[in-house]
Amino acid sequence: MYPELRAIGDEEFSTYARVSHGAFGGVPGGAEIEEARRLTELDRTVAAFEAGRMVATAGALSLELTLPGLTLLPVAGVTDVGVLPTHRRRGLLRSLMAHQLEDVAARGEAAAVLLASESIIYGRFGYGAAVASAGIEVDPHRSAFAAAFTDPGGVRLVEREEVAKLLPDVHDAARRQQPGDVSRPVAWWQVVSADGEHRRRGRGPLFWVLHVDAAGRPDGFASYRLQHGQWAGGLPDHQLHVEDLVASDPTVEAALWRFLLDVDLVRSVVAWSRPLDEPLAWRLEDPRQRRVTRVSDFLWLRLLDVPAALSARRYPARGRLVLDVVDTFRPQTSDRYVLEAGEDGAWCATTTDAADLVMGITDLGACYLGGVRFTTLARAGRVNERSAGALARADAMFSCDPPPFCRTGF
Ligand SMILES: CC(C)(COP(=O)(O)OP(=O)(O)OC[C@H]1O[C@@H](n2cnc3c(N)ncnc32)[C@H](O)[C@@H]1OP(=O)(O)O)[C@@H](O)C(=O)NCCC(=O)NCCS
Repeated sequence: MYPELRAIGDEEFSTYARVSHGAFGGVPGGAEIEEARRLTELDRTVAAFEAGRMVATAGALSLELTLPGLTLLPVAGVTDVGVLPTHRRRGLLRSLMAHQLEDVAARGEAAAVLLASESIIYGRFGYGAAVASAGIEVDPHRSAFAAAFTDPGGVRLVEREEVAKLLPDVHDAARRQQPGDVSRPVAWWQVVSADGEHRRRGRGPLFWVLHVDAAGRPDGFASYRLQHGQWAGGLPDHQLHVEDLVASDPTVEAALWRFLLDVDLVRSVVAWSRPLDEPLAWRLEDPRQRRVTRVSDFLWLRLLDVPAALSARRYPARGRLVLDVVDTFRPQTSDRYVLEAGEDGAWCATTTDAADLVMGITDLGACYLGGVRFTTLARAGRVNERSAGALARADAMFSCDPPPFCRTGF
């Protein structure tokens, strides 16, 4: 039967890595394959074979997603999606997605999340763009804070060997306080701290800096690389790329920014993914110096078990909603659901009551973490209001403070 779809064995891993990297136009070296192997849960892979040859791949990581109200949901973190250039547009991705979502549902995970290479791809499979992020660039020479700032603690550089010992706990505490954020597997730390040459993309090695509070307890960290400049006219002009910035509270975040903006020999400080509402702009005396270079979708979310997912999060406004949900890719999820929810808990089940709102599963996934309003999707013609006031009620119930943000790419 074509295509043959199944999980791979360990002995097939290097082929799997070559197919998934090949789909992105890369050829992984030995170290890259070894790194990918550490991150891969073999029993969560699915590869497609044609006449015994592997031609397409997908994988998933077992992650935990922080929900509004700071409850936690086990989710599949979909990754390694690729189809060889010779086998595209024949439905292989469609087959992989159907197979994978069936597996995710069978594992009892109520949702799957992913980062998309192109935003055209995953809506058709029920994924909605749930968490956005911004790329930013700051001129460090014009980055004075508006108000005097004193760091109540301090920073120190961390040796590579210390990273996996010191930082995971700091990250774990922070991601549990941030809706939309996900857990990091142990292997993630090993791989990132090893800082293989293939990760550098022409930039220098990764530096890690730890922030500690006044009592010396770790409460934040950042990592960065320098892109060395040309010293045109004898002037230093490096670019500092912030890869990671994790803080237990806004003061620690400000302290880490202050450190990063004050590194010498740097003409520009770049961060690839920051929250849209990051307070930094409001810290700066000259706010436009935090230039937004990109705003786009970051985390896509696909609901598989609507009652389980909706009852897992908390809702800042108490209310009742009946949602008619249409799922063309997995028709078994299409149903009418009643949600009764508030700050202290939520209950959701199928119902025959009249619908308040009608929407696709993609749109419910987009709104699930409060990163997008139902009203916005209604204005885009995607959500239909059947009872007056339902959109405003849904917006109030699903809103999320702080807005969802995800610090980890996978
Ligand atoms: C994206 C990719 C996996 C799609 O695989 P594929 O096997 O060609 O996809 P399918 O044939 O199953 O396509 C399913 C549908 O999605 C559409 N589609 C898939 N990829 C698309 C793309 N990149 N642009 C536009 N449409 C796309 C197809 O036209 C098809 O539409 P239809 O349902 O209306 O017929 C493949 O092009 C690829 O490997 N790209 C490079 C690596 C990559 O971007 N991977 C995704 C990582 S997040």
